[in-house]
Amino acid sequence: MVSGNFRLLNAHALTYLTINPGDLIHVTVFGRHVVLANSLSVASELFERRSRIYSDRPELTMLTMMGWDFNLAFKHYDDPLWKRHRKVFQRFFGSRSPISIQPIQEGQAQELLRQLADTPDLFFLHTRNYAASIIMHAVCGHEIIQKNTYLIKLATDAVDTLSEEVFFGAQVLFAFPSRECDLLLEIGILDVNAQLVKHLPEWFPGGAFKVLARETRQVTSTLQNIPVDLVKKSVASGSTIPCLTTELLELPDSKSEDALHESDIKALTATAFAGGIHTVESPLKSFFLAMVLYPEAQRRGKAEIDRVIGPGRLPTFQDQASLPYINAMCKEILRWHPSVPLGVAHSLLAEDEYEGYYIPKDTTVLSNIWAISRDERVYSEPDLFIPERFLNSDGTLNDGDSSFVFGFGRRVCPGRHMAEATIFMAVASVLSVYRISKAKDIFGRDIQVKEEYSSTGLITGPLPFRCSISPRSEEAKILLNNFS
Ligand code: HEM
Repeated sequence: MVSGNFRLLNAHALTYLTINPGDLIHVTVFGRHVVLANSLSVASELFERRSRIYSDRPELTMLTMMGWDFNLAFKHYDDPLWKRHRKVFQRFFGSRSPISIQPIQEGQAQELLRQLADTPDLFFLHTRNYAASIIMHAVCGHEIIQKNTYLIKLATDAVDTLSEEVFFGAQVLFAFPSRECDLLLEIGILDVNAQLVKHLPEWFPGGAFKVLARETRQVTSTLQNIPVDLVKKSVASGSTIPCLTTELLELPDSKSEDALHESDIKALTATAFAGGIHTVESPLKSFFLAMVLYPEAQRRGKAEIDRVIGPGRLPTFQDQASLPYINAMCKEILRWHPSVPLGVAHSLLAEDEYEGYYIPKDTTVLSNIWAISRDERVYSEPDLFIPERFLNSDGTLNDGDSSFVFGFGRRVCPGRHMAEATIFMAVASVLSVYRISKAKDIFGRDIQVKEEYSSTGLITGPLPFRCSISPRSEEAKILLNNFS
């Protein structure tokens, strides 16, 4: 066990703390205990085998003040709403969902290819639209999203308030926004009692976070209300909209404790947007970055597509089992730069002991997903992008896995199946028609690309970079023209 006292803690800083994988790291942050599960074996032991006491979430005062407490990801383990909402999520976003998500993913992949053909330089925007459209079509139905394109912006703006304003250190600190932390610390409030700040007036030094909280509350409330209201209106006017919201609205009213009320449906739909956009957009951007930096991986991916699918059509989910290299590439994209590098904080419901170390009740326990992805005992040269690490020598998939990026135990990501399928469809479709390479400057020289990521926030992703995305052959041009 490594122990220390850190004033600021974020994913970037933790890179330097992973020298001792297999161990636990203990830090105190403003006198509070924080423990990092620094390897897969420790994370599995604590979050899975001891899940009964490791599945709570810490109190997140600021998130509640911002109106994000509707989200099941931040709810306490003993909150009946967590159990009820999670059940719905698992049913609808699991591998046997009653809403057919695959046709949405295939259709939106074509839309992504179209947008890349028109404005390839805007590929960051297109990957975000792709991730957002899939989740929004699944939740609100095609018709609503087609008629109300602003909904995608509403959802992404709302989630931006979370990822930009609340960084990891803040999560440990009961989620104060980063820029307010220093001030609150200086005036001694954080040390005294985090709850105290709730009662400070907005004009008080450090009280600006209350203005942010008030403004964000309006956004989170709109995010919950508008999509469901639109679907209800549309159904009332006679439209049939196959989507999560109509499925939930049509469930018979029941007096059982599992019954869903309108407020539950609103919370569930907004939770899907909050969880399913930025987390998926980040690995898709990593994919474009990897293709620029590792042309040999791109060549092998395309060769497999040519061999299995040929030039005349786009990939479908029917092809997935015959594309081991593309599947390995998707696993490696998730491992290479995990989009939620420290997971979502768990909290300990009762005191515990791990290998002789005492861990007090209410300790914040983080899964150090970043450290797990860098464990050299499992992944040789972990900083490199090597899809082959997930393949046997005969080219078939091995047992290797990067599912740790979705967290652990009873709080494991319920959107993981959907996320993996969304990523597969984008990767296979883009590689089937496009060549991704370094962009050129006005003198025709390659513009070098750096592997740089945003280092704060719950969710990380590549910083903007330039690359060239062009049809990879005459057949690809014809294919693109056919569905444009
Ligand atoms: C590549 C994409 C994704 C990654 C890397 C990811 C990662 C994670 C992680 C690390 C957690 C925390 C697990 C834990 O506490 O141990 C989580 C929770 C969660 N994710 Fe995802 N996620 C992704 C996509 C999605 C999608 C598409 C959805 C929605 C459809 C979603 C919805 C959620 C929800 C609701 C939770 C909270 C679960 C709970 O607290 O019980 N995620 N995710």
